[in-house]
Amino acid sequence: MKQYRITVVAGDGIGPEVASAAEKVLDVAAGRFGFGLAFERQPIGGEAVDRFGDPLPSVTRDACLASDAILLGAVGGPKWDGEPGPRRPEVGLLRIRRELGAFANIRPSFVPDALVDASPLKPSVVRGVDLVVVRELTGGIYYGEPRGRDASGAFDTMRYSAPEVERIARVAFEQARRRRGRVVSVDKANVLETSRLWRETVIRVHRDEFPDVHLGHLYVDNAAMQIAVNPRQFDVILTGNLFGDILSDLSATLPGSLGLLPSASLGGTVGLFEPVHGSAPDIAGRGIANPVGCILCGAMMLDHLGEAEAAGTIRGAVDKVLSAGLLTADLGGTAATDDVTTAVSEILSS
Ligand code: NAD
Ligand code: IPM
Ligand code: MN
Repeated sequence: MKQYRITVVAGDGIGPEVASAAEKVLDVAAGRFGFGLAFERQPIGGEAVDRFGDPLPSVTRDACLASDAILLGAVGGPKWDGEPGPRRPEVGLLRIRRELGAFANIRPSFVPDALVDASPLKPSVVRGVDLVVVRELTGGIYYGEPRGRDASGAFDTMRYSAPEVERIARVAFEQARRRRGRVVSVDKANVLETSRLWRETVIRVHRDEFPDVHLGHLYVDNAAMQIAVNPRQFDVILTGNLFGDILSDLSATLPGSLGLLPSASLGGTVGLFEPVHGSAPDIAGRGIANPVGCILCGAMMLDHLGEAEAAGTIRGAVDKVLSAGLLTADLGGTAATDDVTTAVSEILSS
């Protein structure tokens, strides 16, 4: 029997609630499809700052690097907002992405028929939406140096090299080949030098390696508007770290909740699977968080581990539960986290 070692970094706020839900569903899938999952919990984020004075203790980093895959809940919260830069919970996540070399963050957003009415946008706009944001994850303004403060104020640096753009562009074109063959690259090339390099590089990679894929370009301000007004035009959206962060939250409005969206951070030594949402301090501890994003992270993880049938079955079970109208509060329902998790597990084991 195949055995996979999964490091679970559940983190803060609703992180542990949704990570437990995903673990439970993954366990059921493992039992049904005949592979083993050994989960090992390690601290990250605010929890790790409290216990170790470090948002990514070496014990966590080492466990992550030695595992077959990593499942994240969420990090951060008001308790730690006053911490100095290196002790902020979010830094734990930024460091693990970088330590792994996980430069490609895949963030799918799609609207199942059952959720067409849960969307804040019109059914005619969102029905059938199926897009993926390919976000560069280990470069750009998140990591550029110098950063800091001086007498005149504060500064960050947006920096991209051509090889960094090439490799994320390839990921987007490869995704498009497996989907509907269309990439829209999003930048701010009318203003930013980094974006001009980005666009030139994407055009070159396309011409030399992926001429069969359709490539378009949008400025990020227009892209944000287009996602809300005509989201069905998109198949793969290729963009940098900061723009991808913002546009992926925006793409969560299409199905109606951030709590639905999973992501996979790939390209490094070990795959990191992280919901798009955060620690949701406003609802933490009440057992009402939507676990679907984290459960679907579990499905993306199984795909990556080569357990595609189990992954597809989890997605099918989630779809059935949503179609049955078992919705958490973020989608206008009254179901608790456990209700959704149990229902998905029951369908999986039947
Ligand atoms: P957030 O994503 O935590 O919450 C935004 C809104 O969406 C809130 O109203 C929240 O209740 C709701 N929401 C999010 N996930 C949900 C779920 N699964 N079910 C139901 N509702 C859900 O964003 P925020 O409030 O801007 O940030 C809170 C903290 O989380 C901050 O410390 C931030 O830095 C951190 N954060 C962490 C991650 C991560 O760990 N990957 C991502 C984003 C934000
Ligand atoms: C996300 C989050 C993170 C990011 C933060 C918590 C560092 O917003 O995963 O989208 O900006 O990448
Ligand atoms: Mn974000």
